[in-house]
Amino acid sequence: MTTAIIGTGGIGSVITRQLAAGGETLRLSSADHESARTLAAQIGQAAVAAAGNRDALRGADTVVLALRFTVLKGVIAEIAGPLAGKVVIVPSNPVSTDAHGNLSRVLPEGQSSGKAVAGWLPAGARLAMAFGTLPADLLESSANRSPEPAVLFYAADDDRAGEEVERLIRTAGFEPVKAGGIEQSGRLEVGGDLHGLVVGPAGARSLTGGA
Ligand SMILES: NC(=O)c1ccc[n+]([C@@H]2O[C@H](COP(=O)([O-])OP(=O)(O)OC[C@H]3O[C@@H](n4cnc5c(N)ncnc54)[C@H](OP(=O)(O)O)[C@@H]3O)[C@@H](O)[C@H]2O)c1
Repeated sequence: MTTAIIGTGGIGSVITRQLAAGGETLRLSSADHESARTLAAQIGQAAVAAAGNRDALRGADTVVLALRFTVLKGVIAEIAGPLAGKVVIVPSNPVSTDAHGNLSRVLPEGQSSGKAVAGWLPAGARLAMAFGTLPADLLESSANRSPEPAVLFYAADDDRAGEEVERLIRTAGFEPVKAGGIEQSGRLEVGGDLHGLVVGPAGARSLTGGA
């Protein structure tokens, strides 16, 4: 299957490598195309650098928007037409980073990134919030853990988005556990109770009540 990854920085590059290792075909794009081209060249046959964000979506059923929260809305507007009918997976946390690396929240307290992103998507796009709960280095080192796989939590309202994000979480080397619908996505974000946890399936289900 083919998945588009828009944003090939800290988290997008790890997601891309993990999905490629699991057998997924990837179409990549980034702001200046250079990081997408470099990553595609490192990965080899499984990944190609697209000519741009809209081109990345060609032939892909799903797109991962591995973008800083502050650029998400603009990129969604740029690719809105081809997004209808596609599954959109978003790992973004609603934070910005200053020159000293300090994080500050960019949404009002109590408003989750999932709710905000859902409001920016065109009708027909199917949203899942996932792949943003762990720092990139921990995501990289936790894949294909044995004997017990590590869990990645996700939130989705749409059934097809849920099935597809579960497939990609497994492809990346993790066990998927649903935290709930998009209204639960605040639990996945920086500051949320499921953020930063590396747990196995039983521990994860006890935290989500088996949702
Ligand atoms: N890094 C982590 O450990 C981590 C962990 C969990 C969640 N997250 C979340 O993931 C999101 C991305 O974080 P990050 O650390 O990966 O950020 P990053 O390293 O700054 O990467 C951002 C990527 O977005 C690309 N980009 C920017 N504007 C674009 C545009 N208009 N069109 C296409 N691509 C564009 C950049 O392209 P260039 O490469 O060309 O600059 C870059 O590849 C954030 O919301 C963050 O909260 C990050």
